[in-house]
Amino acid sequence: MCGIVAYIGHREACPIIIKGLRRLEYRGYDSAGVALLNGQLTVYKKKGKVADLEAYIGEQDTHAHIGMGHTRWATHGEPNDVNAHPHYSTSERIAIIHNGIIENYAALKQHLQQQGHVFHSDTDTEVFVNLIEEIQKQNSCTLEEAVRLALHEVVGAYAIVVLSKDNPGQLIAARKGSPLVIGVGEGEFFLASDATPIIEYTNEVVYVNDYELAVIKDGKLEIRSREDVVQTPYIQTLELELDRIEKGGYEHFMLKEIFEQPRSILDSMRGRLELEAGHLNMGGVRAYERKFVNADRILIVACGTSWHAGLVAEYLLEDLARIPVEVEYASEFRYRNPVITERDIVIAISQSGETADTLAALELAKSRGATIFGICNVVGSSIARATDAGAYTHAGPEIGVASTKAFTAQVTVLTLLAMIVGHKRGTLTDTRLRELMVELNNIPAKVEKALQLNDQIEKIAETFKDVPNFLYLGRGYNFPVALEGALKLKEISYIHAEGYPAAEMKHGPIALIDENMPVVVIATKDSSYEKVVSNIQEVKARKGRIIAVVTEGDDVIPAMAEFTIEVPATSEVLMPLVSVVPLQLLSYHIAVLRGCNVDQPRNLAKSVTVE
Ligand code: F6R
Repeated sequence: MCGIVAYIGHREACPIIIKGLRRLEYRGYDSAGVALLNGQLTVYKKKGKVADLEAYIGEQDTHAHIGMGHTRWATHGEPNDVNAHPHYSTSERIAIIHNGIIENYAALKQHLQQQGHVFHSDTDTEVFVNLIEEIQKQNSCTLEEAVRLALHEVVGAYAIVVLSKDNPGQLIAARKGSPLVIGVGEGEFFLASDATPIIEYTNEVVYVNDYELAVIKDGKLEIRSREDVVQTPYIQTLELELDRIEKGGYEHFMLKEIFEQPRSILDSMRGRLELEAGHLNMGGVRAYERKFVNADRILIVACGTSWHAGLVAEYLLEDLARIPVEVEYASEFRYRNPVITERDIVIAISQSGETADTLAALELAKSRGATIFGICNVVGSSIARATDAGAYTHAGPEIGVASTKAFTAQVTVLTLLAMIVGHKRGTLTDTRLRELMVELNNIPAKVEKALQLNDQIEKIAETFKDVPNFLYLGRGYNFPVALEGALKLKEISYIHAEGYPAAEMKHGPIALIDENMPVVVIATKDSSYEKVVSNIQEVKARKGRIIAVVTEGDDVIPAMAEFTIEVPATSEVLMPLVSVVPLQLLSYHIAVLRGCNVDQPRNLAKSVTVE
């Protein structure tokens, strides 16, 4: 949440910062601002999107070679011009941008007010910058030293960048708990919350670690620990391609990402599923093979869509590997004193790799001796680095706030994991493994076929775009898909939607069904097909409007449903990878028809780095 970007070097800073903010806008978009250092320390900030900030800056002189910018997702203080970042210190000689939360800000603020500091905003960030100023005054020390000492006093999470009028050629940054990447160019440096604003200029990056402070001056980067010990920066080369973070002719990132799924699923299997050789390989699993084979239990921690992928994994791992699985909301798990043993494996699933609750849940499990396995999409992210082993999903950057290709990539990796572990444990026979490998290899083509339903689904969306409620039902492997379909719809179209296991309907939600209630039923041919058909009858008997996702060639359900969406047949185990696609498209088209901002839905942010 919140995106930060900064530049120091020989180019004009402002255009680089504005472009970077656009790339980071998915992280928060309720206000934006820049600070430029050019003799003067000038701040421009505005409520609204980055485009509003640009319009506000207009033709003003922005000449500077050092600067920083911020796009905000509000935590402390409503979205308005004053609460937008950057924030000045009381003297207006220091400015800061901050992603994270300072938990002890109230006590610090009171103390600073007693020292004469004046606050204009409701933010915790303004406290941070005044603390730096106060420490510098009290200790007559350098800015760098003041920032370092301030880091000892703040409790919470931060990635910050600090500029000072008194240090015209210097930029200071630090991190704890919120991401920070530094791009290393020829005598120039680019700082950002993730690599997307950087990749256009350099692919050499340094991921700043927790409790590290980066000081850039005289064309040099120095990294020190909070204890002031010099660290050797580890420069990595990124493989991110620029076209993967641009819309490429699609109207929205979300639609582009839905259509990218045949490729992203394939990329997530590449090198792991070797059909001809009859091999499955996953480096991270190999490292933990014995632990997986002997595990008493697997715990999965995640949030939102990643939690839904975790639910699919519960079916997969219990079914194929016969290991008991518990899927936990990371936010609940971390605070309820869970029973964790050294024989447990905890799988943390996260697209961004930065979700605060998921990170905290895995740290808790780690502290109790469990083996931690991470499944992340963003390379070098905090969760990826906090796990002992894991597997990247290789979905490529997901910019649309609603997760789509990350979900199918996660399910792909989890399927491979269940197959490998099941085979090693002897619960998955050679024959069954081979069948699943063949079928998994066919999934990208089947997803491609499901995408051809786009026009049909757009028409269905026209019919339902104005309804206030939706129900989604599924059983077995399709139950998590029902939850995911409902989440997609509510988050981007603001229509209230609930997902349920189809059989649970009669224990309550059936009361909601009347002639106005659209009910999406995922009713593909699988072991619970007959039962789902009965559930459809129950909906129909109450005049519910049925939209059924069925297997191609189904000749029973079309007679019962108002709309039927036919997806290609596949193994029951793999069906979520296909059946979720029409639900993604349905929510996308409904949201577009309702005039919603699908890529940046209200109140949401892509990377939830606060708890
Ligand atoms: C839904 C969505 C969120 C995320 C959740 C976890 O479309 O995007 O529910 O799935 O915030 O995020 P990650 O996977 O980054 O941990």
